[in-house]
Amino acid sequence: GLPERVTIWEVGARDGLQNESGVVDVGVKLEFLDRLADAGLGVLEATSFVHPKWVPQLADAEQLLAGLRRRDGVSYPVLVPNERGLDRALAAGVEHIAIFGSATETFAKRNLNRTLDEQFAMFEPVAGRARAEGLDVRGYVSMCFGDPWEGSVDPAQVVSVGKRLLDLGCSQLSLGDTIGVATPGQVEVLLAGFTEAGVDLGRIAVHFHDTYGQALSNTLASLRCGVSTVDSSAGGLGGCPYAESATGNLATEDLVWMLDGLGVQHGVDLDALAATSAWMAGQLGRPSPSRVVRALTG
Ligand code: HMG
Ligand code: MG
Repeated sequence: GLPERVTIWEVGARDGLQNESGVVDVGVKLEFLDRLADAGLGVLEATSFVHPKWVPQLADAEQLLAGLRRRDGVSYPVLVPNERGLDRALAAGVEHIAIFGSATETFAKRNLNRTLDEQFAMFEPVAGRARAEGLDVRGYVSMCFGDPWEGSVDPAQVVSVGKRLLDLGCSQLSLGDTIGVATPGQVEVLLAGFTEAGVDLGRIAVHFHDTYGQALSNTLASLRCGVSTVDSSAGGLGGCPYAESATGNLATEDLVWMLDGLGVQHGVDLDALAATSAWMAGQLGRPSPSRVVRALTG
């Protein structure tokens, strides 16, 4: 079966804009977030409190949070890798954070400058303090299916990393196909691995990048397995600056079009969303890669 309703976790302002070659003006980011909220999205991943030299595109995190027009019923999670990031996020009044771990040794090193084991030592006080402050903590697992340096990734390794993040107190796990290589059969195998390990798929979100055009198929496979939270980015913006061959996320419009066809509720006004992505494409100076955006606004 399919879920009655899907929660869309919109990552365009974070995963999308972190990968832009230029830095987008903070005013444009704020208008983007405002328009996404107007379009009915209830979770807007806003930015990251990471080292500004590592991700200069999001170095304006404090300014962004200060300028945010928060809406009732909308949450604005941010990425936080370490205690320094948590201090910054707390000072900015954040209520919802995400820590982000790697399923592979090489990407832990390249993305976090830590070994696989050291990443948990870095996250532990972040999750502990955040929860003591009443914040909600999500855990990402990156490179869940393939890694550009290590090749295919063992599902058992992903389940092990995911369980360690849940044990730190994460309310939800988002499984990332960072470089967009997964196909639906692999997705089913990984989700079955979590179920066998005793993890309720209601706590699992999926995060597909569309490098090989499989993101929507992988999402449908996940929904059929019992997942009901899906990460996507408006207009298909995105990628990851520390992962070779990563392109944009699943486009939110492509997801919404499919959910509409399936009769699954999501709360998003597709025309308003597509108009927002067309506007953002204009700001970035290139067309949206989303087929649905092009079909609706072309
Ligand atoms: P490091 O160099 O090991 O940091 O980087 P450190 O702990 O050694 O500290 C060095 C200096 O940086 C210190 O300053 C710290 O205070 C400062 P000093 O004492 O020398 O003056 N510092 C900071 N400053 C501001 N904010 C901070 C911060 N932390 C330390 N948060 C670190 C380690 C984790 C910081 C670095 O590797 C980093 O920022 N990495 C982030 C990379 C990133 O954002 N990648 C993209 C997001 S992941 C993704 O996109 C995948 C996802 O979408 C899912 C999927 O697709 O699979 C989530
Ligand atoms: Mg991503």
